[in-house]
Amino acid sequence: MSLLELDQVTKEYPLRSRKRLWWKKAEQFQAVKQVSLQLKRGECLGLVGESGSGKSTLAKLIMNLEPVTKGDILLNGCSIRQMKDLEIFKRMQLVLQDSHSALHPKMNVRDIIQEPLHNFFPGENIKREARCLQLMEMAGIDNSLLERRPYQLSGGQKQRVCIARALAVKPEVIIFDESIASIDQEAQQSILKRLKYIQSKEKVAYLFITHDIDTLREFCQRVAVMYKGEIIDIFEEWKVNHLTHPYSRLLLETSEETEIEFAQES
Ligand SMILES: Nc1ncnc2c1ncn2[C@@H]1O[C@H](COP(=O)(O)OP(=O)(O)OP(=O)(O)O)[C@@H](O)[C@H]1O
Ligand SMILES: [Mg+2]
Repeated sequence: MSLLELDQVTKEYPLRSRKRLWWKKAEQFQAVKQVSLQLKRGECLGLVGESGSGKSTLAKLIMNLEPVTKGDILLNGCSIRQMKDLEIFKRMQLVLQDSHSALHPKMNVRDIIQEPLHNFFPGENIKREARCLQLMEMAGIDNSLLERRPYQLSGGQKQRVCIARALAVKPEVIIFDESIASIDQEAQQSILKRLKYIQSKEKVAYLFITHDIDTLREFCQRVAVMYKGEIIDIFEEWKVNHLTHPYSRLLLETSEETEIEFAQES
């Protein structure tokens, strides 16, 4: 059985029409259309697709931040609709792109990382400081930053704090929604290395949403391609002729062309 399973998941939002007559039902826009997807324990599944294709909506549905319109999402065979939010957040975590607004401006790094420890492991008072330091080490945050507040940190450091906080609950799944897109290449590489190390140690599964093809290729065992709300291709091997949809073929072809151009330039 897969750790996380999406079964024909659809999400509809009402379309606001200026001419809508009051007796008529609002027209619906399908942001996610009948998506079926499995995530295995300890695997890293990439999710790519053009802007507006429904990737973040899918992440919100998995975290039950918004209800699905149709279909079901199962975690270890159990529908998330039957789970309490606390249980979902204990087992799955979401790391967003905008780390600044995700961190409380008046809390320091220690308090931010220790907050989930208070909430999810209330009986373990003595171990909290040691666990906090261990999480910082895992995420590659220097001890000297313990007392700093978010405005005193760089983008990369803030992102690492978000990762440490996500790891604090010992989740089974972490969803990264363009989490490292806004930081420089070097910091990205360093965080990816850390994430790989954490994955091998903690056996956590990642759903990695990104526009960066190189990261997908390096970091993910499987890649799902989303287009206009649908999953149009899922692949393991980076071979254009294995793909069915023109959009995913184009995506791979473009990345191959860029690679050849780079090779010729250097
Ligand atoms: N709460 C909402 N109400 C109405 N429409 C929404 C809502 N949230 C998202 N949408 C619409 O759903 C579609 C998919 O949005 P989503 O944010 O999932 O795209 P995305 O693939 O994450 O794009 P990007 O790569 O730019 O982040 C968009 O057309 C968006 O406008
Ligand atoms: Mg998005």
